[in-house]
Amino acid sequence: MIQLHDLKFEPFISEERITQAIEQISERINKDYSGKNPVFLGVLNGAFLVASEIIKRFEGDCEVSFIKLGSYKGTSTSGNVETLLGLTQSIKDRHVIIIEDIVDTGNTLEAINKILVEKEVKDFKIASLFFKPEAYKKKHPVDYIGMEISNDFIVGFGLDYDGLGRNLTQVYKLKK
Ligand code: IMP
Ligand code: MG
Repeated sequence: MIQLHDLKFEPFISEERITQAIEQISERINKDYSGKNPVFLGVLNGAFLVASEIIKRFEGDCEVSFIKLGSYKGTSTSGNVETLLGLTQSIKDRHVIIIEDIVDTGNTLEAINKILVEKEVKDFKIASLFFKPEAYKKKHPVDYIGMEISNDFIVGFGLDYDGLGRNLTQVYKLKK
């Protein structure tokens, strides 16, 4: 068990299981984007680790960009997605692969969706290491899902609780 700020967390998903999920996503992306020079768009801060793992497994040419959005306050979503750092590179007419650490309510994805339509990308798909089906409220499909998980608050592998826990190499869930 570990403690971050005032809360206790217990081990939930091992590093091996995470690696396996990343390899499954990467295999599919490598197949779908062979010869296409896609732009990987990581969503900061949480997706920095997943992005590096997926991008280093990509076998063709690709470009990398990041966008920073925020909605979480403590252990729940504020429902209000803010753009904290926008896109600096043109992605017009490009194949874009969004990389997320986790898709929860889908509010963040909806905001990104809007940004990508405005930027006139050729097409885009979404890759997320974790997906909480019970929390998801949108219709847009999440194309590459590493693992579906229960509706619990988790930390580790990029995911934080008020800034802490991103460096943990396995995933922990909030102890109730
Ligand atoms: P959504 O907008 O509700 O889908 O939430 C997406 C963002 O909220 C993710 O990219 C995370 O940064 C954060 N988030 C959602 N669930 C968790 C969690 O269980 N732990 C830590 N952060 C989370
Ligand atoms: Mg995130």
